[in-house]
Amino acid sequence: MEDNKKDIIILAIESSCDETSIAIVKNGREVLSNVISSQIDIHRAFGGVVPEIASRKHIEVIDIVLDEALEQANKTLNDIDAIAVTYGPGLVGALLVGVSYAKSLAYTLKKPLVPVHHIEGHIYANYIEDKELEPPFISLVISGGHTHIVCVEDYGKFKILGKTRDDACGEAFDKVARTIGLKYPGGPEIDRLAKLGNKYAIDLPRVMIDTDNYDFSFSGLKSAVLNFVNKSNMTNTPFKKEDLAASFQQAIADVLVFKTIKACKENNLKILALAGGVSANSFLRQSIQNACDKEGIKLCVPSLKLCTDNAAMIGCAGYFEYLKDNFANLDLNAYPNLKLENIIN
Ligand code: KG4
Ligand code: ZN
Repeated sequence: MEDNKKDIIILAIESSCDETSIAIVKNGREVLSNVISSQIDIHRAFGGVVPEIASRKHIEVIDIVLDEALEQANKTLNDIDAIAVTYGPGLVGALLVGVSYAKSLAYTLKKPLVPVHHIEGHIYANYIEDKELEPPFISLVISGGHTHIVCVEDYGKFKILGKTRDDACGEAFDKVARTIGLKYPGGPEIDRLAKLGNKYAIDLPRVMIDTDNYDFSFSGLKSAVLNFVNKSNMTNTPFKKEDLAASFQQAIADVLVFKTIKACKENNLKILALAGGVSANSFLRQSIQNACDKEGIKLCVPSLKLCTDNAAMIGCAGYFEYLKDNFANLDLNAYPNLKLENIIN
């Protein structure tokens, strides 16, 4: 940034699920702090996120997270130019904590309020990771609630090429993990276990790999795993959980890699950016990297902390929305089912 241009400092808030996070981001791509308070240990006992508990925990910690974020960034509230907040999609009660908090800060500080779509945030994590990255590119968004292949045509301009018709990719990881008795969240557990297993041991379907579109389906794969486990139990044929984890990951990776590379080639785009919690999966990262190397496609992958829910990615998206004067009024609501196609523009 030139000396005569003022730095833009965004305070960003993320509370859509079970992470309370506040970040301070300078000029969109420089993270001054990114404090994340995770509730995973609390929800683990219930095998998944309990929405009511999530909202209450956000309220309990959000003040502390704010203080910590300002301290780490060596900033005060007076240094902030705008407040960015995730307003959807997510758990409505959890979202409302962040949205209400952001509105009171914006009102008190007399600063603009910038609404950010959670998935837009996940995609923008790549702009933080790779300072040179510019649209257009293809993004594979794989999180607990979403599986999308998106063409990022410009900042804030998305074209959805394909999406899941049923379960999200992360949901499939979590449900399969639960089936074989792994703790919540299942994705990292399957990732860890699969390293010890044989990915050719169990034959699982590559659902929708041959369809002439970019859509996915994961519920059939989930059912195939369930049937396999039930049959093994009924016939008293033991199997290794490690093999199941590795075979499941391979089945998921085959479909994701095939369709995503196809999207890059058919749209003549040579850059692919991963986004969302499942892109933390080590096997998937390696599989996609191998395929990209073969096709001459540049792969951007956010670091692990930027893959899962965090406010720095919201601060980055918030900055680019700020540049477009995309501000919300103080009657901003939370939208649990907000679509990427419907972001406020
Ligand atoms: O993006 P995210 O943090 O939250 C949502 O917006 O949904 O994604 C959470 C999902 C969970 O399903 C979790 O199991 C999955 O990301 N996940 C992983 C890994 N780390 C997190 N899935 C597979 N392998 C991982 N290493
Ligand atoms: Zn997320």
